[in-house]
Amino acid sequence: PQSSPKSQDARKRSASEAFQRNGHEGNSLPKPRTSSSGTHKEPKVVSFSDDDAETNVNGSNTQTTSPSLRSDHDRRGQLRLRAQELRSIRKALPIAPHANEIREKLRNHDVMLLVGETGSGKSTQVPQFLINEKWCQAHTVSIPTVPDESRPSSKTKSVTSTKVKVGGCIAITQPRRLAAISLASRVAAELGTPLGSSSPSSQVGYSVRFDTSVSPCTRIKFLTEGMLLQEMLRDPYLREYSAVIVDEVHERGMNVDLVLGFLKRMVTEKGSLDGRGGIGLKVVVMSATADMEGIENYFSQPSAVYENGNVNGDAVISKSVNGHHEKGTAEGHNESDSEDSWSGLSSPSPEPEDVPQSMNSRSIATKGGKAHPRKSLTTACHIKGRQYPVKVIYTPAPVPDILDSALHTILHIHTHEPLPGDVLVFLTGQETVENLASLCQEANLSLAQDPRTRSTVPKMLILPLFAALPQHAQQRVFDKTPPRTRKIILSTNIAETSLTVPGIRYVIDSGKCKKKQFRSRLGLDSLLVKPISKSAANQRKGRAGREAAGTCYRLYTEKDYLMLDQDNDPEILRCDLSQLVLTLKARHVDDVINFPLLTPPPREALERALLHLLQLQTLDPQSGHITPLGLSIATLPLSASLGRVLLASVEPQFNCLAEAIDIISALSVENIFLATTTEEKKEAAESARRELYRREGDHLTLLAAVQAYACENSDRKAWCAKRFISHRAMQAVMDVRKQLLALSSSSRTLTTTTTTPNNMAAGDRVSDATSDLPTRLLRALLTGFLSNTARLMPDGSYRTLTGNQTVAIHPSSVLFGRRCEAIVYHEFVFTQRSYARSVSALQMDWLGEMWGVN
Ligand code: CDP
Repeated sequence: PQSSPKSQDARKRSASEAFQRNGHEGNSLPKPRTSSSGTHKEPKVVSFSDDDAETNVNGSNTQTTSPSLRSDHDRRGQLRLRAQELRSIRKALPIAPHANEIREKLRNHDVMLLVGETGSGKSTQVPQFLINEKWCQAHTVSIPTVPDESRPSSKTKSVTSTKVKVGGCIAITQPRRLAAISLASRVAAELGTPLGSSSPSSQVGYSVRFDTSVSPCTRIKFLTEGMLLQEMLRDPYLREYSAVIVDEVHERGMNVDLVLGFLKRMVTEKGSLDGRGGIGLKVVVMSATADMEGIENYFSQPSAVYENGNVNGDAVISKSVNGHHEKGTAEGHNESDSEDSWSGLSSPSPEPEDVPQSMNSRSIATKGGKAHPRKSLTTACHIKGRQYPVKVIYTPAPVPDILDSALHTILHIHTHEPLPGDVLVFLTGQETVENLASLCQEANLSLAQDPRTRSTVPKMLILPLFAALPQHAQQRVFDKTPPRTRKIILSTNIAETSLTVPGIRYVIDSGKCKKKQFRSRLGLDSLLVKPISKSAANQRKGRAGREAAGTCYRLYTEKDYLMLDQDNDPEILRCDLSQLVLTLKARHVDDVINFPLLTPPPREALERALLHLLQLQTLDPQSGHITPLGLSIATLPLSASLGRVLLASVEPQFNCLAEAIDIISALSVENIFLATTTEEKKEAAESARRELYRREGDHLTLLAAVQAYACENSDRKAWCAKRFISHRAMQAVMDVRKQLLALSSSSRTLTTTTTTPNNMAAGDRVSDATSDLPTRLLRALLTGFLSNTARLMPDGSYRTLTGNQTVAIHPSSVLFGRRCEAIVYHEFVFTQRSYARSVSALQMDWLGEMWGVN
């Protein structure tokens, strides 16, 4: 039932009273800068679009329209017009005056650390500053080909060479899919070029899990860190790129640490540039808040550098990255030299073919073979952001219910503050976002129906924002707010630093986020709701002051704020490292302990990951090398466990690929079943969902839901609403499913003998009592989740097989309250007690077969 206008009023009143009574100002911020041009001379931004609006990133002219291509011509005209409009905005960005400084510094250094507040223009502008640099153009080089000993024709051992293209493209990594896509579309608009695969001449593209959009002309590519790691599997030398920009490094996810490790090796280790003909790779590490000193030290640690593998196989060695160089040969260099800096040079070595001198940025050789003093490897640049004052309001006492408190605050703002001024709310996860969204919708309706507020209070446009949301739904937050409307964006920490959502004047910060945390006694990661760090809280606050002065409502006390950790702790120190180790092994880094990681994880955590990977049969127990199965899993856009299940599903004894894909797709979003807020709704949901529930457990229930949704051809939204299923989450499931199906039809490893069509009517297969499909599916699931199993104890509790921990079936499970002899679960959540979520029933003898349990 909807809340009555009266109760809404009460909500509004109590919220406003709470804040008016107890709120007080927090940190006041420096006065806004009216515009960058007002404080300093207008810089000459030597960008291609400044030089000539007609010139594209390839430096060619785009005015080549023939009459038959009029619509194309019109489209280009529109793109150019939009780019021109955006130019003044770009020029006013805090980073604009630094364009030449950044270009100049990168001509002389290989690694740049760039710190600048969110919104200062790092992600969108830096690639544009660099793309026309000489060192950033593609080159053809000759790479020595190692003779194949096994072929008789190769017995002569003569060194041959192959010509390859190196460089020309800039990669910018992002921790999140949404940021990668939205930045790519913004930069494409700024350049006046179409985006991604929409046109063969597009120069800006993106690549994220389950979605890649590039053209043959792509020169600026936004991609998630995971996708760059995937590209490294195909080409460890990253030959496509002249530069890699690592953005949002302060988030310190596992993948960014891995990316940094590989890049560090590329710029500092011996032999790492062979496959690029010795051509250096520029690295820009960007952050809003990071401890750049730590990263600078990390990149500056002395290590032997193979500077220039030329066609003769001679090497220019530079040990250390700071200071001057001395001559020496590759063979004769003195490893024990304790000086910080020296370099060696073999007999005058020719530049790699077709490579201009300037391109070989890290080489110290000149035509005469003389060494130049070489500057340090790293350089730094600090950008002062543009920030308007943001008033901070804390709650006087801890709030008992975050959602309730968030709703009150939203209504307080909406009914008291003038337009324009959109609201951004930071919540913990998809579930809380969905729940608050439905509460807000109800309040919206009440306000619209109440004669006292109908004509005076504007409309609320409620927009959820979380990672699993389908792209078109995510993009809605960037749309212009309609007249007499206030956007209320309900977001996970996705909007913390990655996204610049325009129009925000009010931020509501729950002070919490969901974090993965390894629980060693359970042997797996669980999702926990944790307090954010101080720097995250300040990032959130900052979102209110990008365009004008704003207000940040913190749903916690000032005392609690002061007790927060200063920075985000790196994921590598708190998560299961299986994925990290598999990534390293797949790239033939066998000595994982000594891989140069910014924050080395504890040795036991690495050992535990190795054991888990052995259990998944991804590593060879004798050699420790990756197995062919492991390599196949590493190339899948899935976790090692889910990848193992997918590959098992094509084995003849399981033969359930289509169904495994449906389940994996459903598991890849947080929750498709919406939580119900009242008893009445709960009952309605239960009865509507009953047709989907399967006695085998949640995995088969998810399968039934996905199959039924896929077969629903009339009104999918209504189908979802009736069952209290999130339509948005279902769309995301379908996105993933489509990609996995495409992958399975193109992948040789995933070729299957299965004859089951994908779109059978709901329940046809899973409810067939005579079918052994449920058994095959659950046994396939066990190949990846053997460590996520528990068995029933005589007292009715469950004990995990790994770690012997007590665990209960989560109330959201269809198996809640049931006694099964054993269970397998997808994840572990810890609230008041330890819960297994997404659970299925097992037979003990299946576990016995796989694990020798009696
Ligand atoms: O990387 P950083 O946070 O420093 O800034 P950015 O992402 O390059 O954004 C610079 C400016 O571009 C923002 O303040 C927005 O005004 C604009 N922008 C946008 O309107 N839409 C996007 N998708 C990205 C940026």
